[in-house]
Amino acid sequence: MTESFVSAYNAQTPTSKALFERASKTIPGGAGSSARTVKFGWSPYPPFMRQGTGSHLTDVDGNEYIDYLLGLGPMILGHRHPVITQAVADAIAEYGTCFGLPYELEIEAAEKVVAAVPGIEKVRFTNSGSEAVGSAVRLARAHTGRRLIVRFEGHYHGWQDTIYWSNHVDPKLAGPKESPRPVASGPGVPLELTDTLVVLSWNDPESFVKLMNERGHEIAAVITEPAVFNTGCILPEPGYLELLRSETIKHGSLLIFDEVITGFRFARGCAQEFFGVTPDLTTLAKGLGGGFPVAALGGSHEAMSMIAEGRYSHSGTYNANVVACAAVSATMDVLAEPGLYERQRALGDRLAEGLRKIAADSGIAARVDGLGTVFQLWFSEHAIKNWRDAEQYADEAMFTRWWEEMITRGVLFHPLQLENLFVSLVHTDEDIDRTLVAAADAFEVLRAENRNR
Ligand SMILES: Cc1ncc(COP(=O)(O)O)c(C=O)c1O
Repeated sequence: MTESFVSAYNAQTPTSKALFERASKTIPGGAGSSARTVKFGWSPYPPFMRQGTGSHLTDVDGNEYIDYLLGLGPMILGHRHPVITQAVADAIAEYGTCFGLPYELEIEAAEKVVAAVPGIEKVRFTNSGSEAVGSAVRLARAHTGRRLIVRFEGHYHGWQDTIYWSNHVDPKLAGPKESPRPVASGPGVPLELTDTLVVLSWNDPESFVKLMNERGHEIAAVITEPAVFNTGCILPEPGYLELLRSETIKHGSLLIFDEVITGFRFARGCAQEFFGVTPDLTTLAKGLGGGFPVAALGGSHEAMSMIAEGRYSHSGTYNANVVACAAVSATMDVLAEPGLYERQRALGDRLAEGLRKIAADSGIAARVDGLGTVFQLWFSEHAIKNWRDAEQYADEAMFTRWWEEMITRGVLFHPLQLENLFVSLVHTDEDIDRTLVAAADAFEVLRAENRNR
């Protein structure tokens, strides 16, 4: 953090500062998830929010932000979308919240998800992405009778022991690019699980084909984000998802698309519809409930058969509760508006293009990678095709300065360059114009600083 930022931020957010001190006494790190803490870039303290409406947030000091953080993904329809909020309120008033038994609204929500997402013929609702992924991984092992899971560096699949590996780890521990070493993403993960995983670099067809030829018969599942949103926004190289699909079919392994964060972002049928590749199992969360907490595990009849037949117990007290199902049902309806995705992708592309031009005019090496409704601005001269590229080429210090200049101008996104900017389906042309004005000012400051270095 620069000193000038800290003093400007302190002056702008005195109530947040006081709340952070108070929160830190009872909440570890002063916030409810580690991604909201100082350790994850929210330094010297995160701004505390008062309310959100549409694409805007207001903090406790009355500062307004154009929101590109979107709750780290779920607020795909902006804050307090009137249709979703009303549907949830009505459902609670009419039905209750939790029965421990099935009910009709649950079927309605499931039918809409099945109709929307190509790879989902059957679906179970649950509560968080981590739960859905944990179930998908275990189900894949049960279904195939195999043990090995293939995952990719720089992807995040939640915090369960079986999969909380090799996200953003110390590059010195990660081994060579051609054959990375699995590295637990934090302390407490049993190292005995090392042998249950193979970790690969993403967007690298050779290493994948080599692995499948050598060990395909041992592999229960290959799990991937179909576009990597947990290392900026990295799109698959042409043919790469198709290769994951054909090789997994060839070797009898399941393909899991973890669409917890990509789901409903590019298209109502998720990234799998957008890229035209259908997995065996899909995990969903974030966008699924339009801001309400809900997740799902879905897949083909075949991949979900052990659950259907009762041979695999997928359980959870709060699974498919009324709040969750009302939110899913209403969100699926709102996302069906004709032209919605095309319009917002064009809007996001205008922002991305504007940022590219501002960066180019400033002479600062930067690139904007992604696709309309989600992208990242990397301070890098090189293309970023996977986590190793990001580690090697992207300038974190420059990103931090850009973030500092943007948040003090009322534009909010995550302070870490390995996160990204989300454009919701309710951001407006005016939001984009205001963001570009702020970005031009911010780059002017960065340019002046670079000149004086
Ligand atoms: C791709 C992916 N999978 C799983 C998760 C975990 O989801 P949750 O935070 O709901 O447990 C996340 C969260 O960011 C994610 O991005």
